[in-house]
Amino acid sequence: MNKAYIFVFGGISTITLSIFLFVLAPRIQVAVIDKEAVSAQTPYTENELRGRQSYIENGCVYCHSQQVRDPVAGADQHFGWGRPSLPSDYIYDKPHLLGTMRTGPDLSNIGSRQPSRDWHHLHLYDPRSLVEWSIMPGFPFMYDVVVSVESPKEGAIRIPGKTDHWIIPKEEAEDLVSYMMSLKRDREPMKASEVAQ
Ligand code: HEC
Repeated sequence: MNKAYIFVFGGISTITLSIFLFVLAPRIQVAVIDKEAVSAQTPYTENELRGRQSYIENGCVYCHSQQVRDPVAGADQHFGWGRPSLPSDYIYDKPHLLGTMRTGPDLSNIGSRQPSRDWHHLHLYDPRSLVEWSIMPGFPFMYDVVVSVESPKEGAIRIPGKTDHWIIPKEEAEDLVSYMMSLKRDREPMKASEVAQ
């Protein structure tokens, strides 16, 4: 063991490098973020909050992220997922739902990208009816299916390809879709000085 110094040197360098990369570098990044910025988000409504809870309970968070990377770190903007995320985007999120997996697309700005309520419901009911190759599970238990020629109820949605089958969203589906449509993290935050007093 006459080369112990290599181990000591290696150990110290590893620890120093890790401290720089994982402690100091993020601190520097956060320090340059504009503290004056006021969040562009609005507080969630009661329905949206219930939808958010159901998003957690149904495991959506395991396949979808809600964090857009800076262009230097990935092609997120190229996919149309909006501007890079800012701390102020999460001001009303407790717990935050950043997610770690992207089995499906990032949903940070899905409310802006997909403003159709009917699309969201049909997709949740049966993803493959709209996106043929989708591997997202369906959530049909959130819907009642009614066979009828005319629309059976206000808010009922006709299943594409079947002229007389309609889905009627249950409350959980309505809340979940309200939550999806509230996600608009592509709005630019304002400066505190610009906000009307
Ligand atoms: C097993 C992984 C998985 C789970 C769980 C999952 N998804 Fe997905 N999701 C996907 C994939 C893959 C796509 C892309 C294909 C498609 O549009 O169906 C997708 C697409 C979407 C889209 C459209 C995104 C876009 O950019 O067009 C929405 C909205 C969505 N999912 C919402 C949900 C919600 C809400 C839940 C929970 C109720 C959920 N997902 C659960 C994998 C998943």
